[in-house]
Amino acid sequence: MGNGFNTRAVQSGEFRDERTGNVTTPIFETSTFLNPNPNPSAYLDHTRNKAYMYTRWGNPTLEALERKYAVLDSVEESLSFSTGMGAITSTVLSHLKKGDRLISVKELYGETFIFFTKFLPSIGIDVDLVKLDEMNKGEIDLNGYTGLYVESIVNPTLGVCDIQLLGKMAREAEVPLFVDATFASPFNQNPSRLGATFTLHSGTKYIGGHSDILLGLAGFDKNKMDSVWSKRKMLGASPDPIQAFLGLRGLKTLGIRMKVHNENATEISKFLSEHEKVERVLYPGLEGFAYNEIARRNLTGYGGMISFELAGGLESAKRMASKLKIFSYAPSLGGVESLVSLPVETSHLSLTPAERREAGIADGLVRMSVGIEDKEDLIEDLKSALE
Ligand SMILES: Cc1ncc(COP(=O)(O)O)c(C=O)c1O
Repeated sequence: MGNGFNTRAVQSGEFRDERTGNVTTPIFETSTFLNPNPNPSAYLDHTRNKAYMYTRWGNPTLEALERKYAVLDSVEESLSFSTGMGAITSTVLSHLKKGDRLISVKELYGETFIFFTKFLPSIGIDVDLVKLDEMNKGEIDLNGYTGLYVESIVNPTLGVCDIQLLGKMAREAEVPLFVDATFASPFNQNPSRLGATFTLHSGTKYIGGHSDILLGLAGFDKNKMDSVWSKRKMLGASPDPIQAFLGLRGLKTLGIRMKVHNENATEISKFLSEHEKVERVLYPGLEGFAYNEIARRNLTGYGGMISFELAGGLESAKRMASKLKIFSYAPSLGGVESLVSLPVETSHLSLTPAERREAGIADGLVRMSVGIEDKEDLIEDLKSALE
């Protein structure tokens, strides 16, 4: 098989059966399998190297998704989950136990923040959070920690984590590094190549790509399979086969979609940064943005997420958002359609104004998930809404 991203995305992992001659992987919509399977050449479930048994344990459609994802994200093994949070909770809990200490950053996806600050301490796992900029200095002493957890690109301020630097530090200190690379997607970053031990994704976003499924993925070395698998099984976080099928289908076009997300957002970030009514543009690929140098070293493309502030603050932001015709006003991200949201009203509503200030989220901050529509049309839509 060729080594190009799109070739691997299309060709790898598919469950083909010469007896049926199926080209694409079928949806194995079965909760259970013959046990024991009397056929001496029965297919083996990669999670246990035994015949399939029960879909919460493993299923050929899930396995095809896991194999394709593993090839694209350069990981030895992978498991799929019902949601991104299913992947995050199962994987972190597969590794940490009572008495352990985790170090992470303050700039985290909201539900992960709750998991770390409320749930983990309640089961005797200490969590220390530092600012992303502090983490990026590479001066944190990892001694005494059992895990280091970061996100490739943070929401909604688009700060970029220096995974390359942290990966090196984590390897030296022998502390496993967890990376949630949802905003980057496997097309723009393979955290395992930068030193990550566990790579995590909300497959709901770019991997699914069409805003029509919930899905999670985790990638890791072979020797981690048993512990992550047993947590997925116990927490009941496996996806159903239809969801897995849609994730598998989404992965086939990830490369061509991401290329357009990257191009569109790059153009739009330039347009916004030159517009008189726009005060500040946050985009990893934008020259002059505080994280642009780290982004260039850690990412091969900068994704479709852009945040910006208008001179008129919250009122102007609301008025502008209400005038957009192509961008829909909705949370979430990573789908083919362009979305816009105000974090103060959606993802960061539960934070106090002081907490939002601390996280660098101005009231008038607008967050966009740039889709794959034609960039000229998206820019025209923004131009008239801004006017
Ligand atoms: C960076 C990041 N991680 C994890 C998640 C959780 O994913 P899911 O909603 O699929 O559980 C999200 C969801 O928005 C996210 O943005």
